[in-house]
Amino acid sequence: MRTCGLLAKRYGRHKGASLEIALSDHDGQTFKISVNEVKTHDPALISSVVDIDLLTFSEPTWSRYTAGLLLRHGRTFLLQANDVIIGTSQLLRAWSNPDEAVLFSMSIRPGWRGRGLGTFFLEEITKVLVETQVTTLMLEVDPENHAAIELYENKFGFERQGICRQEYGEGQDRLHLRKVLRPKAETIKTTLEPIPSTPSAHCEPGPALHCLTDNEEVCIAP
Ligand SMILES: CC(C)(COP(=O)(O)OP(=O)(O)OC[C@H]1O[C@@H](n2cnc3c(N)ncnc32)[C@H](O)[C@@H]1OP(=O)(O)O)[C@@H](O)C(=O)NCCC(=O)NCCS
Repeated sequence: MRTCGLLAKRYGRHKGASLEIALSDHDGQTFKISVNEVKTHDPALISSVVDIDLLTFSEPTWSRYTAGLLLRHGRTFLLQANDVIIGTSQLLRAWSNPDEAVLFSMSIRPGWRGRGLGTFFLEEITKVLVETQVTTLMLEVDPENHAAIELYENKFGFERQGICRQEYGEGQDRLHLRKVLRPKAETIKTTLEPIPSTPSAHCEPGPALHCLTDNEEVCIAP
């Protein structure tokens, strides 16, 4: 695990629980783990978000531009160990359904994975989301990403909405998963105007699944 040179700072408010872990591979050193939402824009964070992503994905899903834009206009959560950033997650709100949050990214630095921190991170994020108007959480994931699927489906009960074939190129399918966080408020349902649909991606239903477009319309197989 490498922590030197990483940004160590307290961001936003500390939400909910924190936990302590002792790492046997670090002489039992204890770390206080917390989840914090970024409330004030700090350009220094752009590098942290991009760097953590580059440690995971060969083709970067981020540019400094998208990371910065989401820091300002989306929601960003940090997983911190003694205030050092060891994980990041960024969320959008769906334009077609403002009650729905989209988990755009969630990543933990390699040396910290497989220790229950992904579970803790997502638990804390969903706690914050249910305090607001968010009723459902949507994400897409590589069907080969077993750690992520284990976390989302088996631990958190996300349900498969469909599979979008070749979403990001040859052999790059994406599973679409959704979790209901809380019942939708009637008042919100009745005041929202429906938005005309424009499917944004070529998508096909997987076996016994429907594939949703961004506008939540079911894309039926021909
Ligand atoms: C996905 C990710 C956030 C999960 O975080 P984590 O800290 O490793 O998750 P946890 O330790 O809380 O484990 C959650 C569950 O997944 C299982 N799991 C962890 N790593 C696994 C692996 N490599 N293969 C299969 N299952 C795995 C764990 O056993 C655990 O289930 P359990 O508690 O029933 O045993 C982390 O692996 C990561 O950052 N991956 C790279 C980025 C990424 O792929 N993000 C998701 C993109 S949508």
